[in-house]
Amino acid sequence: MFGLGNKKPPLAGLDISSSAVKLLELSQPKGPVERSFRVESSAAEPLPKGSVVERKITDIEAVGETIKRVVKRSGTKARRVAIAVSGSSVITKVISLPASLSDREMEEQINLEADQYIPYALEDVNLDFTVLGPSPKGADLVDVLLAGSRRENLADRLAALHIAGLTAAVIDVEGYALSNACEAFIAGISSMTRREQAIAVADIGANAIAVHVLDEGRVIYTREQNLGGSELTAEIARRFQLSPEEAGSRKRHGGLPASYETDVLAPFMDAIAQQISRALQFFYSASAQKEIGLIILAGGNANLPGIDAVIKEKNNAETLVAQPFAGMSFSSRVDSKTLLAEGPAMLVAAGLALRGFD
Ligand SMILES: Nc1ncnc2c1ncn2[C@@H]1O[C@H](COP(=O)(O)OP(=O)(O)OP(=O)(O)O)[C@@H](O)[C@H]1O
Ligand SMILES: [Mg+2]
Repeated sequence: MFGLGNKKPPLAGLDISSSAVKLLELSQPKGPVERSFRVESSAAEPLPKGSVVERKITDIEAVGETIKRVVKRSGTKARRVAIAVSGSSVITKVISLPASLSDREMEEQINLEADQYIPYALEDVNLDFTVLGPSPKGADLVDVLLAGSRRENLADRLAALHIAGLTAAVIDVEGYALSNACEAFIAGISSMTRREQAIAVADIGANAIAVHVLDEGRVIYTREQNLGGSELTAEIARRFQLSPEEAGSRKRHGGLPASYETDVLAPFMDAIAQQISRALQFFYSASAQKEIGLIILAGGNANLPGIDAVIKEKNNAETLVAQPFAGMSFSSRVDSKTLLAEGPAMLVAAGLALRGFD
């Protein structure tokens, strides 16, 4: 419009996870420091139990109301958001196609052959593809990344946004959001591995561990397992006869018997490391081109004391706990101390917030 300039309306990243809705809005103030970000607004609100089950929204109304609360609490003015479809309902696969095909021909060919690659009924699936570049398999081939996501999952997310008065300006895939966040917010990431090595991100959340393998910023592999912090909470509650709320709180803030560390925490961390190792085994057996040199740890469980060392030892790779806000500044309405402490759990939201700068 005249006089108002062509500034884009603000966009926030919104991570609708299995246990919470997390919002993050970033800006990039002009200044002497190149590419430094500022957190404009941020909030997280727990979801009512049972409103998201295994990544699927089962109570759209409850999720919509939670989104409303998170928007209000954050104070954001953004009404456009970037959301992600969850890893488990997204299948990605790299296939090779003749380089001579036009985009349209490629689309036709992929649609014809998609049932070979996507293990869902095709009428339930949104298919997308991106040409990655020349294929190592032949000079006349290109590698194409296929992504199929289940439609029902997306429709439910959009309906919940609608209740909260938001629109989805961007629909991303969780793994891509994590990959973008790592590239943008982890200083020196490209020098942390050797050329022949790839990086993995392990997002250890409340109910799932998602392992993504990144190669030069591309997601080349994703695998998800159902194990997360809620199992640790349940075990604490059972062992020490506490309510789930009390168990969750003491897990984070202390106040558990000495036997907790040896009898409960250590076996849990071993199980996590084991699951990550299993996911990487699948990666190696599917495409043994590169070894994993670095595992970036995200999700709330990355805060468990010593988990980086346990995962490092079991996987024979360096580990690093993601701290996306380490180099950022904060608006006065943001509780920076809490946000810094919860950095690993905000990595998906942070990657989504970046889409406002596309
Ligand atoms: N400081 C901490 N110490 C121990 N556990 C923590 C800490 N902070 C968070 N957690 C645990 O991490 C989990 C939440 O992590 P996160 O926010 O990444 O999950 P989510 O994104 O909601 O779940 P998912 O990705 O599985 O859908 C909870 O089980 C919580 O108890
Ligand atoms: Mg999560």
